[in-house]
Amino acid sequence: MAQRVFSGIQPTGTLHIGNYFGAIRNWASLQEDHDCIYCIVDYHAITTEIDPQVLRAASRSMALDLIACGIDPQRTILFTQSAVPEHAELAWILGCVTGYGDLARMIQFKDKSAGKKFISAGLFIYPVLQAADILLYRAAGVPVGEDQVQHLELSRRIARRFNARFGEFFPEPEPIVGKGARIMSLADPTIKMSKSAGEAHYIGVMEDERSIRGKIRSAVTDIGLEPGTTMSPGVANLFEVLDLSGELLGDQSIAAELCSEFQSGKLMYSHLKDAVFESLMQVLRPIGERRRELETSGIVEDILREGADKARVIARENITKVREMAGLVVG
Ligand code: TYM
Repeated sequence: MAQRVFSGIQPTGTLHIGNYFGAIRNWASLQEDHDCIYCIVDYHAITTEIDPQVLRAASRSMALDLIACGIDPQRTILFTQSAVPEHAELAWILGCVTGYGDLARMIQFKDKSAGKKFISAGLFIYPVLQAADILLYRAAGVPVGEDQVQHLELSRRIARRFNARFGEFFPEPEPIVGKGARIMSLADPTIKMSKSAGEAHYIGVMEDERSIRGKIRSAVTDIGLEPGTTMSPGVANLFEVLDLSGELLGDQSIAAELCSEFQSGKLMYSHLKDAVFESLMQVLRPIGERRRELETSGIVEDILREGADKARVIARENITKVREMAGLVVG
């Protein structure tokens, strides 16, 4: 049997190129030889305040984005988390084998709670729900960007704790982290690209071309370096986007050429930015076209319903076993 892979994404706002290069393109390629389950994690999204109507629309929209990016519902289970409430049930059980201290150490919790007047318990136990997502399907691999690695380490620890207390059941899931696992903000290349930092910091996969061009043109670089010096974070980030786009397009010659210009001190950043824009648009244009076709086809509800039906079968089987092992009511 092919190895099972699970991953999730929050339906908060549009997909950005950090999500795409860091995770989603790997989600797509893993479909070739793995048994893949991908989830739009709406339970996670309500850890921060979000309008219910907006959330529902965003979950649907994220499904369209993912399919446009190459997630193939014929081969892969694609569904919305809250359609399978076993995720929440398992999170409770796993919460009972998770250390308070372990959760308090989570970097994302510290970042997301910093300066907030109200910090929900949901935000604190967010990583337990993430562990439940993965372990509910007894997944072996989890394709993610670098910012999720600490959560994955905790998932492994939770699996070990459960197994030690109730008996061997969960495999310890391995993170699958590839190139592009940490794409940086264009406006401030010392922080990772994210939606929460604001408009100027990210490029949306479905964003308007003119707006993308403007953001790349004004991306932070440096004031020109001596030949042979190491790249500044902004320039390195632009090269990374160029390299990743080139890899997907099967042509990395431009990246190699501009890199040697950089090394000899001859590179003009305006050329680098033009090249990044051209290559990136070659990757994004077909995705945008597919997205527009899907929008009008109206098949997304059926895809998500079928995905949830398939996920539920696996989830129910595993939660029944967990209930049995933990001494809870079965049947
Ligand atoms: P989320 O929704 O923030 O991000 C989805 C995926 O995109 C990756 N990513 C990045 N990769 C490279 N560079 C960046 N700048 C960048 N920003 C985001 C993330 O690492 C992630 O892989 N907690 C998760 C969702 C989740 C999940 C799960 C993931 C819930 N349950 C189970 C895996 C398994 C999250 O908030 O990802």
